[in-house]
Amino acid sequence: MDKKIAVIGTGNMGKAIIQGLVSHSNDSLNSITASTRTDQEAQNIQEEFGINVFTNNQLAAKNSDIIILAVKPYLLEEVITEIIPIISQHTLIISIAAGFTIGQAEELLGGNQPFIRAMPNLAAQVGESMTGIVENSSCSDTDINDAIIIFNAIGRTEMVTEDLLHAVIGVSGSSPTLVFMLIQAMADSGVANGLTREQSLKLATQMVKGCATYLEQSDTHPEKLKDNVCTPGGTSIQMVLEAEKQNYRHTIQSAIQAGIDKSKELSK
Ligand SMILES: NC(=O)c1ccc[n+]([C@@H]2O[C@H](COP(=O)([O-])OP(=O)(O)OC[C@H]3O[C@@H](n4cnc5c(N)ncnc54)[C@H](OP(=O)(O)O)[C@@H]3O)[C@@H](O)[C@H]2O)c1
Repeated sequence: MDKKIAVIGTGNMGKAIIQGLVSHSNDSLNSITASTRTDQEAQNIQEEFGINVFTNNQLAAKNSDIIILAVKPYLLEEVITEIIPIISQHTLIISIAAGFTIGQAEELLGGNQPFIRAMPNLAAQVGESMTGIVENSSCSDTDINDAIIIFNAIGRTEMVTEDLLHAVIGVSGSSPTLVFMLIQAMADSGVANGLTREQSLKLATQMVKGCATYLEQSDTHPEKLKDNVCTPGGTSIQMVLEAEKQNYRHTIQSAIQAGIDKSKELSK
């Protein structure tokens, strides 16, 4: 992509995005800049990725075509206000902050500024994020395409409307925590039955990873895969019966709904 991109904030997400951009960029690293809060962190990021890093957001973002805001949500208003004097009407602003709406952004930036909300998840840090993307009405097709290219560099993307972003947060944004709890619970059962913690975590983690890959590659409905694995009179069907008795699916659905409801509450 022949664009100058600035990443504001180099924490978990900012760093993951820089990593993705650097490893997918065919262009000069001079086209990527970043800014962070401390000199030490600026130096660390500069050394790690070979890009220019500033502790001044205006310097980092000046002359950028695209500015990615990767700071905590409570800092967004302050950072946007800071960069307004140095952006042009064509600069694409991308925010990955949960709960910061297009309406809030337009109040600060004006309705004519191209603005995109993106909701990645923590797997961005290994290039396996699932990112929901929403554009405002001032975005061109090129802006949308640029955002897709950026977030495809850290995983996969799905375009949605803003009202559906809450569901994205529930299903892929905040739900990694449920997968970690699942793996942890499975590992506990292994340990209770004599496996070491290390063995048990390895088994459960690889199983979840393998199932996700298999589901994706087999292009088969998960219900069918579930049925296929249930040998008559075998162990899997016993696990299914017990899980259903304990409201396994409903428990997951309730937890995700709670996340979706919280996301809606935070956006008010
Ligand atoms: N983590 C996730 O899984 C995840 C998933 C989806 C969306 N998000 C969103 O991504 C955003 C960033 O989250 P994160 O987990 O990456 O947070 P983080 O690790 O705390 O990173 C924020 C970074 O911004 C820096 N910073 C603080 N004030 C700044 C300023 N005024 N100007 C420039 N940089 C500044 C921080 O530096 P210091 O550490 O020195 O303060 C830190 O490097 C949040 O809005 C969050 O909602 C996160």
